[in-house]
Amino acid sequence: MSANRIPLIAGNWKMNGSRADARAWAEAAVAAAGDASNDAAVFPPYPWLGEVAGVVGGSRVALGGQACHGEVSGAYTAAVSAGMLMETGCRYVLCGHSERRALFGEDDAFVAGTLGAALRAGLEPVLCVGETLEERETGNTQSVLLRQVDAGLAEIRGPDDPLTIAYEPVWAIGTGKAASPAEAAEAHGWIRARVAETDAERAGRVRILYGGSVNPENIGGFLEVPDVDGALIGGAALDPAKFSAMIRATPATAPGA
Ligand code: PGA
Repeated sequence: MSANRIPLIAGNWKMNGSRADARAWAEAAVAAAGDASNDAAVFPPYPWLGEVAGVVGGSRVALGGQACHGEVSGAYTAAVSAGMLMETGCRYVLCGHSERRALFGEDDAFVAGTLGAALRAGLEPVLCVGETLEERETGNTQSVLLRQVDAGLAEIRGPDDPLTIAYEPVWAIGTGKAASPAEAAEAHGWIRARVAETDAERAGRVRILYGGSVNPENIGGFLEVPDVDGALIGGAALDPAKFSAMIRATPATAPGA
């Protein structure tokens, strides 16, 4: 973390939890965020957005959608528009989560379309980028990340458009094999430098989250990295005690410091 940016601790619930779970998890997040120095957000399944909006409204926990469509409305069965998320009380929307890319065929152009739609609706996109294991092992991590970042940045209309970026190596998501803080530092540095090429001021304020097997034990090591501005958390966000601990997390003390 850096003194200029408040870390954001975000929980992506994916397709998990009952309505009662959603309420309980949101209540726990609100309680934890009350006295934390980090910002917090939750990304519930669509059917529970309204329920969770009622719980987090007026608190320090922001609401987000897990995805949106690039069109405003139309014959897109099972999709939701950015405007619908906005009307439900969302502040954020994930754009191009790796599961959307891999399982639902969202390519860079589609993801960019969702990011543009999010901005036009008044939402803050959380652009998710990350390399697969094969891409890393063949030395393509940087080029993949910059390609994905460029596709999203192309939708930005001006300095006032809000943006958060999440670096989530695909091989680290849900595997229990998190990237090392050094690997995150390298990737986040590439991403921030790319943002700086188009908007140096934005590069100084854009939050870049790390995601992929973050848990209460390793989050402090990530927050210690100056270019890591929080975390996007899947599995460990489904345990209210763990998510609360991560909302309250602070940078780990460097060994020997
Ligand atoms: P994980 O998921 O924390 O379970 O690895 C992260 C994500 O998909 O955002």
